[in-house]
Amino acid sequence: MRKAVFGMIGTGGIAQSQHLPNLSRARHATLKTVCDLREEVLKKVQAQYRIPEAVTDYRTMLADPEIDAVVVATREDMQAPLTVEALKAGKHVYVEKPLANTPEEVETVVAAQRQAGKHVSVGFNRRFAPAYVKAKELVHADGGPKNIHYRISDEYWRWGKNYPPNTRVIHEVCHIFDILRWFTDSDPQSIYCVGSRPDDEAYVLKFKNGCVATIMNSGYCTMDLPKERIEIVSNLGSVIVEEFVELRTYGYKNCDWIHRFPGHSHPDREFTHKFLLGLGGAEALYQLRRMGWEQRARFEKTDGEPEPDRAELQAYCSGRCPHWNYMVDKGWLAAVDHLAECILTGQAPRNACAADGLWSAKMSSAAISSRETGRVVEF
Ligand SMILES: NC(=O)c1ccc[n+]([C@@H]2O[C@H](COP(=O)([O-])OP(=O)(O)OC[C@H]3O[C@@H](n4cnc5c(N)ncnc54)[C@H](O)[C@@H]3O)[C@@H](O)[C@H]2O)c1
Repeated sequence: MRKAVFGMIGTGGIAQSQHLPNLSRARHATLKTVCDLREEVLKKVQAQYRIPEAVTDYRTMLADPEIDAVVVATREDMQAPLTVEALKAGKHVYVEKPLANTPEEVETVVAAQRQAGKHVSVGFNRRFAPAYVKAKELVHADGGPKNIHYRISDEYWRWGKNYPPNTRVIHEVCHIFDILRWFTDSDPQSIYCVGSRPDDEAYVLKFKNGCVATIMNSGYCTMDLPKERIEIVSNLGSVIVEEFVELRTYGYKNCDWIHRFPGHSHPDREFTHKFLLGLGGAEALYQLRRMGWEQRARFEKTDGEPEPDRAELQAYCSGRCPHWNYMVDKGWLAAVDHLAECILTGQAPRNACAADGLWSAKMSSAAISSRETGRVVEF
């Protein structure tokens, strides 16, 4: 079977945790070339995934006529310009979120995409998470969402400490803005944001189709709290999806009460890290919690110190524990494989496109403006 030929620019964190392993097992894609400025990283990933070519200048990759599409996973300062260049070179693009820091920069991609007539799929992979696909199906069979609550929380206080203000809303909450538009099939009408401290915020959104939503965004939780939870009220029933692994339904006829999806879970309804649980039972979870608090105490004592590494946790797990954020299926593989399939078949992809990336950037920017002015921002 023919596969779409991909190149990849940027082989750092998300590439190594998701895009490289995923493209090596995708049904519709094959990875021909990787590109990174760091030669040692390039050599490592080329050998690990048996990739035919590795280059340090992305222009070499873009000049290769065999390559149909490129994954751009550098950082938000380069993602928009690289996407524009790739489109001009006649490539389809799968580009990581956020496309850029401002809506104005994202607009350059929207314009280039329109001109090139190629696909741009933005890495809002949650649209392909199996638990969310099922939740959307159930909710829309009952009249669609009327009221949504989303919590996204993690230990950002630690890893994001030295980032510029607003990094978290632009980088992390952008995912949630996109998934709310996807769940509602609607665009936002207004947004209001209040914060108790930097990166601890609440948002109130009204959508054009009448749905309302709230988002709790906190960067101050410890790593044993499940990162994400969504609750949706539809016409008569509701669903709750906990950390992409459990979907509970309420009030729907002829519907299972509970749907489970692979990932880390705890039998006592609190979700945590299956790997650790399997490894050491409750003791392992206790250790995880203890390490989190101790690391936090150490980190708060000093300022500007480099991030503490995971050595202690890794040692405890004998180096076998992947990052817990990637132990659930948030749709990364399905998103990129779907783009590849559409390249081969000529169908229009269901991925978030450049215009969706622009909406998300506008919502981040409006949320920041609302928090700063204390006003509701209308779109
Ligand atoms: N969708 C998700 O779930 C998810 C998760 C994590 C990160 N991300 C996004 O992915 C992007 C990358 O994040 P990361 O954590 O992997 O970053 P990273 O810093 O770990 O990796 C970026 C890599 O790009 C390389 N690079 C930068 N400029 C380059 C250039 N001009 N040519 C070639 N290589 C270049 C760097 O050397 C580095 O290896 C960010 O936008 C981030 O927000 C998405």
